[in-house]
Order: sequence, then C-alpha cells, then structure tokens
Amino acid sequence: MSYHNPYTPPRKSATFDDYTLAEIRRAAATGIYDIRGAGTKRKVPHFDDLLFLGASISRYPLEGYREKCDTSVVLGTRFAKKPIHLKTPITIAGMSFGALSGNAKEALGRGATIAGTSTTTGDGGMTDEERGHSQILVYQYLPSRYGMNPKDLRRADAIEVVVGQGAKPGGGGMLLGQKISDRVANMRNLPKGIDQRSACRHPDWTGPDDLEIKIMELREITDWEKPIYVKVGGARPYYDTALAVKAGADVVVLDGMQGGTAATQDVFIEHVGMPILACIRPAVQALQDLGMHRKVQLIVSGGIRSGADVAKALALGADAVAIGTAALVALGDNDPRWEDEYRKLGTTAGAYDDWHEGRDPAGITTQDPELAARLDPIAAGRRLANYLKVMTLEAQTIARACGKNHLHNLEPEDLCALTMEAAAMAQIPLAGTSWYPGKGGF
Ligand SMILES: Cc1cc2nc3c(=O)[nH]c(=O)nc-3n(C[C@H](O)[C@H](O)[C@H](O)COP(=O)(O)O)c2cc1C
Repeated sequence: MSYHNPYTPPRKSATFDDYTLAEIRRAAATGIYDIRGAGTKRKVPHFDDLLFLGASISRYPLEGYREKCDTSVVLGTRFAKKPIHLKTPITIAGMSFGALSGNAKEALGRGATIAGTSTTTGDGGMTDEERGHSQILVYQYLPSRYGMNPKDLRRADAIEVVVGQGAKPGGGGMLLGQKISDRVANMRNLPKGIDQRSACRHPDWTGPDDLEIKIMELREITDWEKPIYVKVGGARPYYDTALAVKAGADVVVLDGMQGGTAATQDVFIEHVGMPILACIRPAVQALQDLGMHRKVQLIVSGGIRSGADVAKALALGADAVAIGTAALVALGDNDPRWEDEYRKLGTTAGAYDDWHEGRDPAGITTQDPELAARLDPIAAGRRLANYLKVMTLEAQTIARACGKNHLHNLEPEDLCALTMEAAAMAQIPLAGTSWYPGKGGF
C-alpha cells in the first residue's frame, strides 16, 4: 500500500537540482561533454563582497570639480625602453580573431583608442583591422603558436606571453570547425572547417628557467623596446607572480576563474581556478616580498564590470585591470534586440554562451560574413569608448570620495568586507571590525 504524506509538499534535492538533473540527462543522451564560452555562472566571492568606506572625520574627500584625480598608468617600466602609457587603467583583454569577427576586433581597437587604452590580440594572430585601429596593441605569444609571426612581434607595442587563462588554468583553447573560415585557417596554417584545439603549454618552455630564456629572446628580437607581459590563470598567484618576475616579466597579468573564454569545457570553467578576489593579495605580496610592487605592474581580470570593480582591484594593489566579456557586451553581445534570434538558437539574451558555434546574432563571435556584417565597428567602438569612460569616471568618483588624487593611491585600508569569505580572501577587515580570518583584532 502506498502512503502519501498530506502535510509536506514534494521536495527536490539541493544537490541534484533541476540543472544538475538536466546535465546528467544531456550527458547520458549525447555521450559528449558540454563546451561553451563565457566565464563561470556560479556565484563565487567577488568584488561585490567588498565596500569602500569613503571619507569621514579622520579622512577628507577631494572636491570633484576642483581637485584632480589622476587615472593614468604606465606599464612596462622595469626593462622596456618604450613603456606603455595609458589614460585609464582599464585595458582590453586578449581575445582571438577566430573567436571574434574581424569587425569585432576592429571595434575593440577603435573603442580602446578613443579611451586612451590598449587592446590585445589573441590566439590566431594579429589582424590588420586591429593593428590599424588600435593605437596601443599588445601581441599575445601563445602556447598554440597559431598565427605567430615574428614581423607582428615588431608591429606590436607590447608582448604578452600567455602561460594560462583564468577560465581554464592548465587547459588549452578550442575553436570549432564552424568558425575556421578561409581567412582564419590561413592565419593559423591549418585546414579549413576542422576543429582546432590549442596546446595547453608552450613547446619552448616547461618552467621558469626556460621562460626566462624565451623572454630574453623576445627582448632581443624587439631591441628591448617592448614591455613583456606574462599572463597566468589564477591558480597559485603567489608563486606564479614570483616566478614570472624571476623570469624577467615587466608586467604580470593575472586572470581569475570568472574570466571569460571563447570556448572550453563547462567543467573547466566551473571547477578549475580561483576567483580573482582571492588572487590579488597573494600576487601583491609576492611583488612586495621581491621589492617589485609598482615596478613590475600587475594587471588583473576576471568578471570586471564597473568602475567600482576597477577601484576595488586597484585598492587591493593591482596597477590596472583587463576586461573581456564586459567589452563584448558593450559592443552589443547578448543584446535583447536580437531576442527572437537567440530564442531560435534555444537560448535567451543574457544567457547566450555558445560562442564557439559561430551563430552569434550580434555578429561578434562569428566568422559568418552575413552575421559579422551586422556589427558596425564604428558605432560599436563608440559604445565601448563610452563604457570605458563611464567606468573610469566611476573609479575616479570613488577615489575622490576616499581622498585620493590618483587611482593608485587607493589602498586596502579604504575597504571593508561584507562576508567572512571575502574578508579572508581579500585580507580586508569584516565590516564593523578590524579583523579578518587569519589576523587578530578587536
Ligand atoms: C571571446 C573570448 C576570447 C578569448 N580569447 C583569448 C585568447 O585568445 N587568449 C587569451 O589569453 N585569453 C583569451 N580570452 C580571455 C581574456 O583574455 C580574459 O582573460 C578574460 O576574458 C577576462 O575575464 P572577463 O571576460 O570576465 O573580463 C578570451 C575571452 C573571451 C571572452
């Protein structure tokens, strides 16, 4: 005889929630793991868990209309003869041509140039559009070597040696056959229409000693002019930063787990790496222990969306930030105006992450000529420039309220934490106390 309890409604498991059940069914039906773009979708401790304290009796604010608050930053002051001068500490992260359309790369260059900042190439090499429209262009030197061209090293303003990415530390990139057009295939020296997996480690180095030799080689090729960045995913930030400095980096780029990707396994995006909030203090500590804080600059990325995020990253000790996903949104990615078409793809604006499939209605993550033509690089570049301007003004507003005449004068002391997790990870006192886990206090 079955027994129905009339008092309690049916209860679903928090562990086996609807999404998890659907994923198990999807895996069972298809036998393949899920690949997607973008960053983690789960909630992890982030800059939202920190607040600025602002001025009070013991601190006085700066007057917005009369007192200056500088936002400029110089990157690559350690060895390079020609360091990079930016008007804002918000840079555009490396995103590959192949993942993005030529028009999208051009728009990023246009927007960054108006805002006085840099943009970055990506897996697959440098396009003429982005070189032509980016006043300051950082050239990525990647494990895959796709599109690697010594002439482009010299055409660049800085070089970024990619060791890893926050979305997939230890993993390589993916570009599915749908996006391997003639032009993409040509630049990568690979056949058209065939899935490509980028290597997860560079054949020329396995550790810091080989990396040092590689960096020296790059300096020689470029006559010691260009700053050399080293980019790592947020995994062991203290040691990775220290080793990058030892290997001769001018700039360390640290990308947390929220960082976007063009495409990789969902299990990677959601389960490997650390949130950027937990990475910044150990990286800054490594720089301080080596006497290199502010001499080797630190750029951080992974889920940066607003001027508040920028100001918080800088207050924790970073010199600049990089944005990927937010820059694509500013160009027009996931815009509700394409909702009908997102629906046809089985998704909705704001959730579209199948960037690897090449069907992007907004014309950004595609190589389809008709879709790509939807993005007007001039208008999209202007939107990006507006967004960068707003973020810079927001960060400036916060810095002034904390009494700082340069964004770099923001400091951990300006912050408090809302949660124990954030307090522990960012080493910032829990609001209302002078204490964070691991430190004594009242
Ligand atoms: C579409 C797309 C393509 C990317 N391609 C590359 C790449 O070629 N090389 C690389 O180092 N990182 C790549 N990334 C990662 C970004 O450089 C950056 O680390 C990340 O987007 C920062 O996090 P955010 O997206 O939350 O701002 C890519 C990211 C996106 C969204």
